Amino acid sequence: MGQPAITGHGVFTPSEIITNDELVVAFNAYAALWNEDNADAIASGEIEAMSPSSSDFIVNASGIERRFVMNKDGVLDPTRMFPRLPARADEAPGVMAEMALDAAQKALAMAGRTGADVDLIICAASNHERAYPAIAIEIQQLLDAGGFAFDMNVACSSATFGIQAASDMIRAGSAKAALVVCPEICSAHLEWRDRDCHFIFGDVATAVLIEPAENAKGARFDILSTRCATKFSNNIRNNNGFLRRTHDQMEDRRDMQFMQNGRKVFKEVLPMVSAHIAAHMQAEGWSADDLSRLWLHQANKTMNDFIGKKVLGRVPEPGEQPNILQDYANTSSAGSIIAFSKHSEDLKEGNRGVICSFGAGYSVGSVLVERR
Ligand code: COA
Repeated sequence: MGQPAITGHGVFTPSEIITNDELVVAFNAYAALWNEDNADAIASGEIEAMSPSSSDFIVNASGIERRFVMNKDGVLDPTRMFPRLPARADEAPGVMAEMALDAAQKALAMAGRTGADVDLIICAASNHERAYPAIAIEIQQLLDAGGFAFDMNVACSSATFGIQAASDMIRAGSAKAALVVCPEICSAHLEWRDRDCHFIFGDVATAVLIEPAENAKGARFDILSTRCATKFSNNIRNNNGFLRRTHDQMEDRRDMQFMQNGRKVFKEVLPMVSAHIAAHMQAEGWSADDLSRLWLHQANKTMNDFIGKKVLGRVPEPGEQPNILQDYANTSSAGSIIAFSKHSEDLKEGNRGVICSFGAGYSVGSVLVERR
């Protein structure tokens, strides 16, 4: 039984940025057009006029200031409100594979490895751009990796569930160098025309390399324990599965994109996550004082502030619970790994931290790590 360790990590950040102000200008132009088109029904009281969005609301409600996207002009075109990501030929690399490849190469470089060293790839994400062949297998080919690869989807919790699966396989000896990649094109499953959620998501890809600790060539994070849990809820849902494609009005159906009952998610997920982390730490004999860092899922700043306070029993010191959502927005499964990747290298030998992701399902996963 090998001790699994994170020996490399990396983030692919798209080159295009949408600020809240740019987003709100586009949304409000769209809403004005919509109100014009529906002027009679609005005047007769049949439907309500669409209200404008506001940058102040977005920052105050979520902590998000901007987001990276794979395509900006399609999202900001008030007559379109959707990224332009044309379908590629089957012979060309897929968009998700390309994003993941960049993050994976950074993780491999940090670990002093090449693709040929890798014998397991898990592509863990909220949505996959095709049903099969698995995107993970395409990444395996692009990296010249061996072994085997597969896709998995536990929505926003995909990263930690992927890390648990990979760590278990490292422990069991069925893999010796495992990449868990989270390429998230959230912009293509967000409804940018819905005022309640149009500001929530951004695009990114992350990668972590997991190897037996004794094989590490440099500094590492030992994965001391993982814990995953799920409990069914419809409060975060996307119905865009293959069976629904036979539906005549698919184009117009709001449930074919990300849907959430944000207030309920807030109320139900917060206690679930805080209790999950506390129970996991307790089971492993960790107290709040043992923690140097919390890398949480990045959906909402208020939510993270609440969880940090509950877990530590006090308001976290600056830097103890880093947020990246002001720059990246919610990037689904990738959020906690971006926070980890950008805010972990300063930790010293023996420092401990928790990576935690949570979201649709409901689902929650925690990973207890120690710097070595
Ligand atoms: N601009 C301006 N005002 C807006 C707005 C916008 N874009 N969107 C909503 N509002 C208004 C609403 O109309 C409402 O006004 P009212 O009080 O006059 O009715 C008010 O702001 C509050 O709206 P609500 O949707 O209840 O906001 P909220 O405070 O719950 O914040 C979320 C919304 C989505 C940011 C918050 O619920 C949240 O983060 N939930 C958890 C999300 C999450 O973790 N999801 C997991 C996804 S993986």
